[in-house]
Amino acid sequence: MMEKVTIHSLKRLKQIGQKICMVTAYDASFARIFDDAGADVLLVGDSLGMVVQGQPSTLPVTIEQMIYHCSAVARGSSRAHLVGDMPFMSYQASADEAVKNAGRLVAEGNMEAVKLEGGEEFADVIHRIVRASIPVMGHLGLTPQSVHKMGGYRVQGRDEETARRILADAIAVEQAGCYALVLEGVPLELAQEVTERLSIPTIGIGAGLHCDGQVLVCYDLLGMNPDFKPKFVKHYANLYSGIREASGAFFAEIRRGAFPDEQHSFKSKPIRLVASQPAPQRDQEERTGTGDGAPI
Ligand code: KIV
Repeated sequence: MMEKVTIHSLKRLKQIGQKICMVTAYDASFARIFDDAGADVLLVGDSLGMVVQGQPSTLPVTIEQMIYHCSAVARGSSRAHLVGDMPFMSYQASADEAVKNAGRLVAEGNMEAVKLEGGEEFADVIHRIVRASIPVMGHLGLTPQSVHKMGGYRVQGRDEETARRILADAIAVEQAGCYALVLEGVPLELAQEVTERLSIPTIGIGAGLHCDGQVLVCYDLLGMNPDFKPKFVKHYANLYSGIREASGAFFAEIRRGAFPDEQHSFKSKPIRLVASQPAPQRDQEERTGTGDGAPI
């Protein structure tokens, strides 16, 4: 088995100039595939609110829902470093609540780190969580939990003032103790500057090629929604069509009576089901192995 990825191995990857591969995962089956494919980091993103739950934003996602998905992902993976998103209002109200909720993602969700959105204004919260021995990944630029403040999902840091703010925030969250930083929806020039100034790895999504690593929402890279194709997303598969074709073939076979066929059916010796014959006792069936209990 390949060596388990930790916050220390991620820092080493930055130092030797090897790109970090991160992808979102929301359940054990996908986690297993991405782990097997060589993901360095699995992020249980609160994007699950949109792609799994069908919500219009990430804002309705709760800490309980995050814990549920985190624990499923943790059961499916063995090598990748595991990061759980802190959902909206699980860390904004007070540092005490933030530490408790981060602790729940680790203790109940089996995550190895948490991610939260925001800059200098969250330095104290980050510091408190890190002091509780929980590694924190930062997230700056287009921060989806601030969708209403941003006035929509827009690229951030295009003008000098906001670019300077994002750079200052990046330095602040590194100083507060973050071990890595997601840069989302920022120009590649700004992402390059941040990446060069920080000693912690940057992981980009819509932030250009100069980041230390890259992340995409798994449903986006797999082409699960043909209607969602923003500039920063590349479809590496077209699972929408693949799944539609496979499930359509299944439904067609059911309708014409072709599934299940003999090969996909269980058989027994010829049995006569006549009312006068007493049914065998269940405990006798189990002792003799003649019942329906054979493994699938
Ligand atoms: O929630 C999420 O999936 C994320 C990534 C897009 C970085 O935060």
